[in-house]
Amino acid sequence: MTCRWQWRTPPEEPTAASVVLVCGVPTSLPPTQLAALMEPYARHVLVCTGGYCSPNREGRMLYAQLARLLEREALLFGPRRVKRGETPCLGVCAGGPIVVVYPEGIWYAGVTPELLERIVVEHLRDGRVVEEAVFHRLG
Ligand code: FES
Repeated sequence: MTCRWQWRTPPEEPTAASVVLVCGVPTSLPPTQLAALMEPYARHVLVCTGGYCSPNREGRMLYAQLARLLEREALLFGPRRVKRGETPCLGVCAGGPIVVVYPEGIWYAGVTPELLERIVVEHLRDGRVVEEAVFHRLG
């Protein structure tokens, strides 16, 4: 299923019969039914958009750029699919913007638009970590 961002405004006074749709699906699905909505993915990228690690909050711009880069590199669908998420803090709060790639648990600091492009092309597309920008690894 492709998210089409079909946001619907919930009714002022929800009733038992009302259904709120987000991304085209009811928000009230139980976990057992949610599993059917998830397509396989290879990696998950989290971008800190908070203002402590990056006082000018460059992470917000990087998060938007990431979507364009993933589309350009054909990483939005299929077996190499990369999910992305933004978060207000990754618990580092210095040297940002901070970007982390799972499942490897590779943490990048000081991410610029140019470095983000390298992360997408070299790490996410080609599987080679951009070593000189890594400041932490899972484990
Ligand atoms: S604000 Fe970015 S890591 Fe905390």
